[in-house]
This record gives sequence, structure tokens and C-alpha cells, in this order.
Amino acid sequence: MTDTLSDGAVVERPLTPGLGVELLGVDLANLSEGQAAAVRDAFERHGAILVRDQQLGPDDLVGFSRRFGALDEAPLMENGRTAVPGYPEIYVVSNVLGADGRPIGSLGSGEAVWHTDMSYLPAPPRASLLYSLEVPPAGGDTWLCGMAAALRALPADLRQALEGRVIKHDGTYNSGGYVRAGVRVDDNPVTCEGQPHPAICRHPAGGPDVLYLGRRRNAYVVGLPLAESEALLDRAWEYACLPENTYVHKWRVGDVLMWDNRVTMHRRDPFDGSARRVMHRTQIQGAEPPLPAVAA
Ligand code: SIN
Repeated sequence: MTDTLSDGAVVERPLTPGLGVELLGVDLANLSEGQAAAVRDAFERHGAILVRDQQLGPDDLVGFSRRFGALDEAPLMENGRTAVPGYPEIYVVSNVLGADGRPIGSLGSGEAVWHTDMSYLPAPPRASLLYSLEVPPAGGDTWLCGMAAALRALPADLRQALEGRVIKHDGTYNSGGYVRAGVRVDDNPVTCEGQPHPAICRHPAGGPDVLYLGRRRNAYVVGLPLAESEALLDRAWEYACLPENTYVHKWRVGDVLMWDNRVTMHRRDPFDGSARRVMHRTQIQGAEPPLPAVAA
């Protein structure tokens, strides 16, 4: 690998041939500067990193996340509360109920459908990181989809139909299907509020162009009659999440999985609601909006 490893070894093991890498031999709470640089470099090159067997308190998690840039404050949870007292950057993803009978986190135990985090914002978070504290015995796997591979998978006519197009990204529902706090519900893709982003974006660090879909519900290809927009999006989604573009993560306690929202989407399998699953999530702020690919 690179010179930055001279003060500490970081060994890479691919998660799939095209997406993500597992980093071995690192303690994220105690990284040397050389290791931190190697971890950042691996993340930029591979779109996702996995580091197993970590023991991170909230300070460690926030401290490691900050090595990638300023953090977003976690959005309010579905119950209108912030999740971890004293740590406004940490969002809890969990189905567990607290002593007061209210959920300690968000997203329940159902499926979280394919999406890119908060693509309904002008500058969505650059990256998201999940750290597992409790995992169910089965289910709850997290899937990543590489959006450069998704773009390459499109037939030429479909790619051409999307080139230069802008998709409106709706923020009414979160990936679990819950309406976000304070949002007015409008299920008409043409009239609903949303943020336009290019359908095909350039990689901000010079990597291959990516398909940028956000999420399917209420999405709209700006300027097309609704039926044409629906047909175009349905076709694009058919190719986007082909198994060869994806990685499926089976969680163990102490895993850190971090993905680049600019080049991936993710989803989660449902799991038995009587089992416990507790994840802490941080997000790295996005510095710029997704930029359109440069025409060939
Ligand atoms: C999410 O969609 O952000 C949550 C993913 C997960 O719970 O694995």
C-alpha cells in the first residue's frame, strides 16, 4: 500500500471485487497519524470500510468520525427526541424500548429500503458510519450498493435517457417508511417538496462517475410527464441494485461500517422485533452538492 503505513500497519482485504475494504490490525480509538491517513485513503479509494472488533465509547466514536471532517448534528428521532445525551452527533438506530416504554432509537425492526442518506438536502452528508453495540441472532444485515458499478450496468439507451437529467429527491419519509418530524406529506412526485440533484454525478475525488438515485419513493425526473418519469426511474432502479453491485454485511458486535454517501446507497433487512439491535451512527458533513458528470 502507501508510505503512510510506515508508522503502523493497516492491511486491506476487499469486501467485494468492486466495493469496500476490510481494514485489519487497527484500533480506531488509538490510531497513529499514519494509520489515520491510511484509513482515510482506503475509504476514499474503496467507497466503504469495515473494521471489526472495536470497543468505542461515544468519545472514541465521535473522535474517529471527526478524522474525516466536521460532523452533522444527528436529526431528531421519530419520537422527536435526540438520542445520546451530551453527544448531539450520535444517532441511535435501534428497535429497543427504554425503561419509559419509548424507543431508544429510530427505524424499528422493519426493512430500511435502498437509499442514500439525506439526499433531500442541498449538500447531503458525505459519509455515514454505523457502530454495532448489540446485534440480533439473524437478520438486520446492511447492504451497500456501489453506484459507479450501477451506472456501468445501465444499458446504453437508459444511460443516455438519464444523461443531463435532474432527479428531485423527496424527504418526506425516512428509509423505514416513517414520516420525518415536522414534514408536510405530499405523495405527488411532481408537486412534493424536494431537492434536485443530477442523475449522473462526477466523483468529487476524481473516481468514476456515479448514478445518483437517492430513494425511489416520490422521486421525480424534473421536466418529464409523471408517467415517463416513473418508467425511467423504475428502469434505472432495476439495474442499480443488481447483486453484483452490492455487498451484504452480517453484523458482529464491535463492527464499524462506514460508507461514502456520494458513491453508494444502502438498505437494511428486517429482523425479529423481539431481538435487540443497537447501532450508533455518525455522519460526516457534506462540503458540496453532488455535481453533474462532465459530458463525454
Ligand atoms: C440506515 O438505513 O441508515 C440504517 C441501516 C441499518 O440499520 O443497518
